Amino acid sequence: MKSTTQAKNKFIHFFRHSHQEIHELSEQLQQTLTRLQFEGKIYRGRNLKQLMEVVEGLEDKALTHMSFQEVVLFPFLETHVPKLESLLQLLRSEHREFESHLMKLKASVQKWLKQRSESSHASLMQGIQEIGMCLIFFLRSHLSVEEKSIYTVMESSLKKDERSKLAELMKKGENKKIRWKLAVS
Ligand SMILES: [Fe+2]
Repeated sequence: MKSTTQAKNKFIHFFRHSHQEIHELSEQLQQTLTRLQFEGKIYRGRNLKQLMEVVEGLEDKALTHMSFQEVVLFPFLETHVPKLESLLQLLRSEHREFESHLMKLKASVQKWLKQRSESSHASLMQGIQEIGMCLIFFLRSHLSVEEKSIYTVMESSLKKDERSKLAELMKKGENKKIRWKLAVS
């Protein structure tokens, strides 16, 4: 009994831990945007550099996590928990939307880092704040839906043999080091 519970906890821990890392990056994004807005010109260079680090962190952690879900977890759930099919389609399309917002934010930060003219700073700041806040709210909603739906189903509905099968697929996926490009090709 104890080993079954431990295996179950370890199994879900992998996905919940990834979400925790993404939640932390989202929090860092919000803090960095606030500093960029209120700390003024003297700290602008430092804050933009930190913003780029957070964006690259999200690109690495969140997109890798999403591709892992799409290549390993979602196909498994579609087979074993058919009632989730339409929700999984929605989550896939949200992944694309997230990637699009993130790339827009990255492009805006890169543009500002290269910008020499002071005159366009106000519009660049406004654009970055809008995309950044949109990304934060989007992520909160997306992660919350996944935690309340697919993660809860995984914890409560999968049988022992199904959990073993998924654990095996996850191990293979980790070994392949699945990246986002594999999921969208
Ligand atoms: Fe997701």
